[in-house]
Amino acid sequence: MVEYVDAAKAPLKNTGQIKIYSQEDFEGMRKASQMTAGCLDALVPLVNPGVTTQEIDNFVFNFGKERGGVPATLNYRGYTKSCCTSINRVICHGIPDPKKKLKEGDIVNIDVTYIVDGWHGDSSRMYPVGKLKPAAQRLIEVTHESLMRALAAAKPGNTTGDIGHAIQEYVESERCSVVRDFCGHGVGKLFHDMPNILHYGQKGAGIKLMPGMIFTIEPMVNLGLPDVRVLKDGWTAETRDKTLSAQFEHSIGITSTGCDIFTKSPAGLFNPMEPETGAAA
Ligand code: MF3
Ligand code: CO
Ligand code: CO
Repeated sequence: MVEYVDAAKAPLKNTGQIKIYSQEDFEGMRKASQMTAGCLDALVPLVNPGVTTQEIDNFVFNFGKERGGVPATLNYRGYTKSCCTSINRVICHGIPDPKKKLKEGDIVNIDVTYIVDGWHGDSSRMYPVGKLKPAAQRLIEVTHESLMRALAAAKPGNTTGDIGHAIQEYVESERCSVVRDFCGHGVGKLFHDMPNILHYGQKGAGIKLMPGMIFTIEPMVNLGLPDVRVLKDGWTAETRDKTLSAQFEHSIGITSTGCDIFTKSPAGLFNPMEPETGAAA
């Protein structure tokens, strides 16, 4: 049985219960998340051939430092960087590296989480490096659209399974695959909390969505098979068949009618419910 509890009365740890947050908590999440989204916007002109992933990491660290945001990944379970930079066949948790230069035609996911006043704003987007091949462009568009469909399913009365189903049904209709080994997660004063948000599943499965819930949706989509391999560094997750992988992530809160997208781009890039600006925006 799932149990929903008042976040204000719950201990600051993952108790397995689903925390229900107040409007004031939503504003805390929005503040942290808008810093994250502002950083993802500001990274657009920086992501070019020849730039190293360490330079991206430095930018993320400094952007937060100037605004009072601490990167949640810094010293998180032994991770020592301010963001994740996942290039081409890397699905997620790519580690920024001074030796790793971006090159023309690459696609890179940059995943940033700032902590502001204790709240975690977690979001990621895909960035094209120069001009892309059509397959890479299409993968980015399919992955973004899968997140848009998931957001449309994120409303009271639906379940976590409805979210996963919306993603899986669309992604597979586009002859791509959904990664199963990583999921979205409750977020708030904790980086990773309950509930798990699977990016695949059956309609009506999982738990009921209630106003006040806060979590991420972060589908990882592959051009080939969904299978994952984690490198010896203990973090970098790649596609086993070495095909391209893409991901977008938003932090959201369930409202009485739908969801509040805390990490929506302030500059209007990749914005949900608005005309597509295109992958290069
Ligand atoms: N930001 C990632 C997420 O979406 C988590 C990264 S944890 C790290 O949940 F340690 F790999 F950075
Ligand atoms: Co996340
Ligand atoms: Co993230």
